[in-house]
Amino acid sequence: MHAFIVTGASRGLGYALCQTLLDDGYFVVGIARNAGPALEGLAARHPERLLAVNADLSDAGQAAASVRTALQQLPLPECATITLINNAGVVTPIAQAGHYPADEVVKAVAINVTAPLLATDALLSATGGLPARRRVLNISSGAAAKAYPGWSVYCATKAALDHFSRSAAVEQEGAANPARVVALYPGVVDTDMQSSIRGSDEVQFPQKARFDALKADGALSSPADAARKIVDHLVSPDFGRQSVVDIREL
Ligand SMILES: NC(=O)c1ccc[n+]([C@@H]2O[C@H](COP(=O)([O-])OP(=O)(O)OC[C@H]3O[C@@H](n4cnc5c(N)ncnc54)[C@H](OP(=O)(O)O)[C@@H]3O)[C@@H](O)[C@H]2O)c1
Repeated sequence: MHAFIVTGASRGLGYALCQTLLDDGYFVVGIARNAGPALEGLAARHPERLLAVNADLSDAGQAAASVRTALQQLPLPECATITLINNAGVVTPIAQAGHYPADEVVKAVAINVTAPLLATDALLSATGGLPARRRVLNISSGAAAKAYPGWSVYCATKAALDHFSRSAAVEQEGAANPARVVALYPGVVDTDMQSSIRGSDEVQFPQKARFDALKADGALSSPADAARKIVDHLVSPDFGRQSVVDIREL
């Protein structure tokens, strides 16, 4: 069995990743705040290979606990591979430093950084003694490497996720059964996150018109196409050779 735990499974890229993985015959545990109702359609098609775990990943305790719950529901000794995809993320607050809503900054750091770090820790600690090959895929963003005015919180959190992935990958090099840890940029994908970018305040986000034009020109990837490319890379022997990858450059 090949098992995949996907956070942010309820919609957008995470939902498409679950759908692609299920269509490919894998076992999936989807995590989101209301994962059960959100995944009902997929569960009806794949009742024996999909589980849902509800968790609010802005709560650090729930981030780690949700991965432990997911693992408890899997027949771990039968798993040839166990993969965690830390996909859940928020682009908000779209605001420049000096104009931050403090509570939203705290929430963004919790969802985009604290949750994937603790989820990864939970996976590695619970599976260290198993023979299964282990993989962690952190869905990052080109914003980790390129500065965008108005996205300073988002850029900082994704840069943190990239460097966590590099550092954890190096830590694993010395392990008995080393996990592969990778951060990946998925490109510009047509999801609710892009809608909220197009709905943002141009004063706070001066590049809004560029994202309006990308949508108008049909330049966004569909979630299904992005998910297909990501899964193909994830299951390829190349996965883990580079700890930060841009799907558009593969
Ligand atoms: N779309 C793009 O163009 C783009 C580009 C680069 C990188 N990315 C990255 O790709 C990933 C997926 O983005 P997307 O575009 O698919 O976003 P999206 O459509 O807004 O979906 C976000 C997902 O994250 C989950 N999530 C948000 N807050 C949560 C919380 N507190 N607890 C649990 N889950 C939570 C949501 O679940 P709920 O149903 O619980 O809200 C949802 O499933 C993100 O990491 C994003 O940064 C996206």
